[in-house]
Amino acid sequence: MSQVLCIRGGHPLRGAVVAQGSKNATLPIMAAALLLKGGKLRLKRVPNLLDIATMADLLKYLGVCVDFDNHEMSIDVPEEISWETPPSLVRKMRASSLVLGPLLSRCGKAVLPLPGGCAIGSRPIDLHLKGLSKMGASIEVAHGAVTAEARELRGTRIYLDFPSVGATENVLMAAVFAKGETLIENAAREPEIANLAQALREMGADISGEGTGIIRIRGVDALHDAEVEIIPDRIEASTYLLAGVITGGEVTVKGVILEHLDALLAKLEEAGATVARNEGEVKAYVKNKLHSINVKTLPYPGFPTDLQPQMMALLSLASGTSVIREEIFEARFLHVGDLKRMGAAIEVQGNMAIVKGCPELMGCDVKATDLRAGAALILAGLAAKGETRVHALQHIWRGYEQIEEKIASLGASLNLTEMAEEEVKW
Ligand code: UD1
Repeated sequence: MSQVLCIRGGHPLRGAVVAQGSKNATLPIMAAALLLKGGKLRLKRVPNLLDIATMADLLKYLGVCVDFDNHEMSIDVPEEISWETPPSLVRKMRASSLVLGPLLSRCGKAVLPLPGGCAIGSRPIDLHLKGLSKMGASIEVAHGAVTAEARELRGTRIYLDFPSVGATENVLMAAVFAKGETLIENAAREPEIANLAQALREMGADISGEGTGIIRIRGVDALHDAEVEIIPDRIEASTYLLAGVITGGEVTVKGVILEHLDALLAKLEEAGATVARNEGEVKAYVKNKLHSINVKTLPYPGFPTDLQPQMMALLSLASGTSVIREEIFEARFLHVGDLKRMGAAIEVQGNMAIVKGCPELMGCDVKATDLRAGAALILAGLAAKGETRVHALQHIWRGYEQIEEKIASLGASLNLTEMAEEEVKW
């Protein structure tokens, strides 16, 4: 038996929700706590999610004490911690690889089972390793694990072939104690990286340039206790705005940083939606039917790949033909099959999806293959006729806190139920 979300679609969502703290900012900041040698990092506005619990378990395995209650987390790091990470946790969540840089930096050694591919692509960590090796680490990949060693890391210029979010974060954390100055060129500019840099600075690191393509880190000898606030989750916030628009309703999301949503809001306006921006909050709705647009995913400040599936659900119901190009992950179209079973007219050609707007979607049994694909299926279900039953909810709970409660509070008709696999009509 597993839990299934039954959505009776067709109810316009109306009202307001508050954005959760950013999952993708919290994970690297939790990893950064490992740089403390006998110290405490307190975090505010931490979302209560499966991925956060996995990172907490990983830190605890390494010997760290993690307390988490009511969106506040306290991470107490002793003088001595372990440098060896367990395959069971690393394979559960790719972001576990973010502990590599901090462990190497503070322990002089780290062992990380290779995270491997996942549903949306092969996702190697070669850029992380190249950066660490440029700083003087010896890297050995054998028997499915990376062993990185360095008696001392040296500051240097590191040009990333691609502005990878994870590689930028790992190198940034490794550089905090490196001797001299490290420059990360072609660095990722995501707001979550700026939040990480800010957290490290609060802890005593010397970092500048975050949010631009060049980040400069001057090595320091030690870090100290700090308190940091996590930024709002731009992907979660955007998903609720899209839920309002796809159902013909009007959703306000509060507690957001508006400029982090620019790419989505520009595309919503281009498709014919009205967007009302106010201080720290935003509302979106459509007066008439949405029309087709073209979307290309890019590193920040481009359109986020983490919103591509949700945007595809929306454009499935717009008039005209939209073209969506996925430029970040090679296999991020796993939601297409289920959207088509609901009646969407989508053709995939390589990294491009051609979406012909259809008049309506029909509810059926669908299965989340990954976090954002699952969110897209929920959006489609909210707009579809009849009942949509979303399976494999564990993917969605990795990144959306209380998503059922939040959309129910906006007027969605839904319930969670237990279902045996043999009852499902695939
Ligand atoms: C992070 C986000 C994820 C988001 C992604 C892109 C977290 C925890 N996750 O993932 O939600 O979808 O950014 O915005 O923050 N690549 C390589 N070699 C590397 C590293 C990456 O080839 O060493 C490739 C990946 O396979 C992928 C692309 O670069 O095709 C982008 O990956 P990256 O920016 O590193 O994403 P993540 O940090 O894994």
